[in-house]
Amino acid sequence: MLRGKYLVGIVGFGGIARMVHFPGWKKLKDVEVFAIADVSKEARNYASEKLEISHVYDDYKKLLEMEEIDIIDICAPNRFHYQITVDALNAGKHVICEKPLALSIEEVKGMIEASKKNRKKLMAGQHLRFTKEAKVIKELIEDGVFGEIYHAIAFALRRRYLPPSPTFIKKELSGGGPMFDIGVHILDLTYWFMGCPEVHSVNGATYTKLAKRKDIRGLWGEWDRDAYDVEDFATGFIRFKNNATILLTCSFLANMEKLSDLSTTLFGTEAGIRWPDGKLATEKKGVLQNIDLKMETLPDVEPHHEEIRIFLECVKEDKEVPVKPEESLEVIKMLEGIYKSSETGKEVIF
Ligand SMILES: NC(=O)c1ccc[n+]([C@@H]2O[C@H](COP(=O)([O-])OP(=O)(O)OC[C@H]3O[C@@H](n4cnc5c(N)ncnc54)[C@H](O)[C@@H]3O)[C@@H](O)[C@H]2O)c1
Repeated sequence: MLRGKYLVGIVGFGGIARMVHFPGWKKLKDVEVFAIADVSKEARNYASEKLEISHVYDDYKKLLEMEEIDIIDICAPNRFHYQITVDALNAGKHVICEKPLALSIEEVKGMIEASKKNRKKLMAGQHLRFTKEAKVIKELIEDGVFGEIYHAIAFALRRRYLPPSPTFIKKELSGGGPMFDIGVHILDLTYWFMGCPEVHSVNGATYTKLAKRKDIRGLWGEWDRDAYDVEDFATGFIRFKNNATILLTCSFLANMEKLSDLSTTLFGTEAGIRWPDGKLATEKKGVLQNIDLKMETLPDVEPHHEEIRIFLECVKEDKEVPVKPEESLEVIKMLEGIYKSSETGKEVIF
């Protein structure tokens, strides 16, 4: 902290940076978004002209040379997360990086190593952990209300919400389709609810059945069918070393009744629940009960902003970050396992 404030540099100034990260940092009193780097001129102009960000570059390395910058916030496409993170940590910056933290086990291991070597914080932006409903459920889990949670069914399903930008549909930028984009969110949340057990094995299958079809319309507009080279639907079955299991299914396009379903249902020996609804299903003295936790009555929180606020607190107070990079490593292990299992048709044992 060289200027009486924590200075942040954002790398990648597209949708999520403008809509969520920049306003999240702006809310905090002792923080300034001091610089941004983006390869796009439009993004750089937006930052300097609309938001009056004073230092704007086309190369993120310029941000890393700025001694006064404390934190690098990475909002570039997935493919670049690893290199930017490692370079930023080696330059002595703390890093908060959008999900998925990286695209492979090897990459995440390299990031963890750089974080440890440089004694700088590293955290993936898994904002679902910071939703009000997740906070309540996690507290109940820690109080033992669910007993042993032995299975979960996690959905990140969209009927016709395919993000048309190359960031999400070209493997060279995204690394994968809905599994990496939205599956990672619900998987991280579910795995955290289950106490972050170690992965034992993964079975999975990915499909591209609808995204190439010209008669299919997306509710977020047209996409380039020829450039589309990721899955549009994926499923995985994960077994942990403690024998608990997760069934995960996600899609950008699927023929299903609802427009979308982002949820996880936890099955415990004492109770069950579906996030984010909050209806606790249990039995007391032989009577089945559905207890409504009335989540809607809790004060609203913007989970991305909460994630940013808590990350800053960890930097300031030198505390361990709430989304530990070692936990993100297990999540990436599961995703890599699903893709590998789909390719080989075999179970992947870790
Ligand atoms: N947590 C969430 O809810 C959430 C939501 C959307 C996206 N994301 C994540 O945020 C990241 C960005 O997604 P987005 O929707 O903002 O995408 P986007 O395409 O809108 O923005 C990405 C920006 O990065 C820039 N960029 C590309 N390569 C770069 C590089 N090498 N250096 C600097 N800038 C570069 C692009 O020009 C663009 O402006 C992805 O990792 C995505 O998974 C997270």
